Amino acid sequence: MLVLGIETSCDETAASVVEDGRRMLSNVVSSQIDIHRKYGGVVPELASRKHLETINFVIEQALSQAGYSFKELDGIAVTNGPGLVASLLIGLANAKAIAYAFELPLIGVNHIEGHIFSNFLKHPENKFKTEKLLPPFIALVVSGGHSDLVFVEDYGKYELLGRTRDDAVGESFDKVAKLLHLGYPGGPIIDEISRKGNAEAIKFPLAHMKDDSLDFSFSGLKTAVVNFVKNHKLPTEPQSIADIAASFQRAAIKALVENTFCAIEEKRTKKLVLGGGVASNSHLRNIFKNRAEKNGIELYYPPLALCTDNAVMIGCVGYYKMDYSVDRPFKSLEAEANLELESWN
Ligand code: KG4
Ligand code: ZN
Repeated sequence: MLVLGIETSCDETAASVVEDGRRMLSNVVSSQIDIHRKYGGVVPELASRKHLETINFVIEQALSQAGYSFKELDGIAVTNGPGLVASLLIGLANAKAIAYAFELPLIGVNHIEGHIFSNFLKHPENKFKTEKLLPPFIALVVSGGHSDLVFVEDYGKYELLGRTRDDAVGESFDKVAKLLHLGYPGGPIIDEISRKGNAEAIKFPLAHMKDDSLDFSFSGLKTAVVNFVKNHKLPTEPQSIADIAASFQRAAIKALVENTFCAIEEKRTKKLVLGGGVASNSHLRNIFKNRAEKNGIELYYPPLALCTDNAVMIGCVGYYKMDYSVDRPFKSLEAEANLELESWN
């Protein structure tokens, strides 16, 4: 079964052809980072206009790289939220037009689900155990817009265990990088310079709630970094900048690890999957690997190219939703900025 995935929820215009849910035949991503860099963040109007200019070309490329035509497809999957509405609408309008013209089923996909399912692409089958990555598992989705801890009981059966009460973790990386004049997007830069820094240099507060919920809070940590810089003045020596970056990164990631392993204990599962742009962070991967090994947990994360936004993960969810005959209301499918992660009916 061939599904064309389309993703335009933020600043990446992406299309992909996915075969039988887990085989990626093409992965075309047109990034707008260069456009938004000078503003230090995504400008929604510019994002939407760029998606409109690029989308047809990106879709054509995805089909031609996969070696298929519209007529050979079995379905179209498109992100319909959460995200920037004006950006989501470009992908959705295109997907609807293609579905209508070629009489194909149209499947709306939640972007967070996409990040979770991106793990299936790396594990079409597990060489060592002859079995696929299968639910149930705990998923931690960490990106520029989300920090969600989800129990995935089965395909399309979700329980949200924790989320951020304010900023997303990737957003806090981007804001701290801006504060330290490091550039945009901040995550990969902080990751890089933190390698030279002393993560114990400054004791920043951990980014989780003090109650017994599994929620996160990254704005307090960000404010602590702002106050530190205010009180000590922005250092000029690269070593001091690296120490601030590394100390911030440690505090952000420690909270993610602690809450995630509490969730694992609570749900008594032995599998953990990571997803989203921040899942490419090298410190995060190391810490999770060590902790998983110690606790006998199977740890999965997507290849780097599938951590950040892409359409392969959208095609993957589309396949499973078709396979499970999830409702496909063509006309009522709308772009929703705050679309919640909901179980399939
Ligand atoms: O998943 P994604 O491409 O888009 C959203 O759905 O938001 O994630 C982008 C976010 C940005 O905030 C970026 O700074 C962060 O992921 N990011 C990283 C790293 N690579 C990307 N954060 C920390 N370390 C990284 N290596
Ligand atoms: Zn994303």
